[in-house]
Amino acid sequence: MDRTAIVTGASSGIGAEVARELARRSWRVAVVGRNPERTEAVAKSINATAFVCDFDSLDNVRNLAEELTQRFDRIDAVVNNAGGIVAKRQESIDSHELTLQRNVLGSVVLTERLVPKLLHTRGRVIHTSSMVSRLGKIELDDLGFSYRRFGAGWWPYASAKLGVILYARSLAMRTGLESYPVHPGYVRSGFGAESRSGKAILSLTGWMQISPEAGAAPLVHLVDTPELGVENGTYFDGLTPDGPTHPAAADRDFVTAYWRKIAELVGTPVEHHHAT
Ligand SMILES: NC(=O)c1ccc[n+]([C@@H]2O[C@H](COP(=O)([O-])OP(=O)(O)OC[C@H]3O[C@@H](n4cnc5c(N)ncnc54)[C@H](OP(=O)(O)O)[C@@H]3O)[C@@H](O)[C@H]2O)c1
Repeated sequence: MDRTAIVTGASSGIGAEVARELARRSWRVAVVGRNPERTEAVAKSINATAFVCDFDSLDNVRNLAEELTQRFDRIDAVVNNAGGIVAKRQESIDSHELTLQRNVLGSVVLTERLVPKLLHTRGRVIHTSSMVSRLGKIELDDLGFSYRRFGAGWWPYASAKLGVILYARSLAMRTGLESYPVHPGYVRSGFGAESRSGKAILSLTGWMQISPEAGAAPLVHLVDTPELGVENGTYFDGLTPDGPTHPAAADRDFVTAYWRKIAELVGTPVEHHHAT
């Protein structure tokens, strides 16, 4: 039976290479992207199925979850990779700050709806975080940076990527599903192209970037290695477990408090049945 992986942000950069490599390893892949042409092109090139979804609308994500549930008899892995930095403060149609919605809330809505399928296969969830999560500044009553410094999007981005780690850990704690957040490396991709500060940083540090294939490697490893031999919820810096991250990521009470807050924001149940 074909193992099935859902890969978001698969229309370009790291996600496209994750989709490509998993397909090469005989996984059945759902290529999820925002831009229809790019998503179709990647899917076509690896003989996979394209799913177009804009995470800026949570209803769109709910529809995607429904479509995937109907379409696939089994789901063995979800790679929550869609995301990026948003240079100016904006709110989604759901009234959430866009960085938070694109990097965290969309993945939360998708994943929580796929939990029953994942429990069935004892599937895994991989979450693309970032080393900048170390700089995250999470205040539970201001996840959307409505009164704190926006910093051309870098503070909300760092905080959302810390949120990705917190959500990954909460998923592991609540459901027993294997769930790993990962920093892919500093990767040459479409990242930062919409932001002036992103472009400026790129022009100075572009030489340090690794290829999208190299950035995809840790994600593929986490999806496709049968026994990882680490504690569930471990944060990976590339291929290295227990990478340096924010102290809040080790605080189980804070993980739970963050989960309760985002569950409330997206209107999803707080508890889930455990896999064991
Ligand atoms: N590049 C790095 O150095 C680096 C480092 C650490 C973490 N990351 C993270 O790695 C992940 C992949 O980024 P990348 O570097 O590969 O950049 P990328 O080439 O810009 O890819 C970003 C992907 O996310 C999708 N996406 C963005 N906003 C979306 C939305 N509103 N709804 C649905 N999909 C959306 C994009 O879809 P479309 O192209 O179809 O619009 C694209 O497939 C991101 O989460 C990023 O934050 C990157």
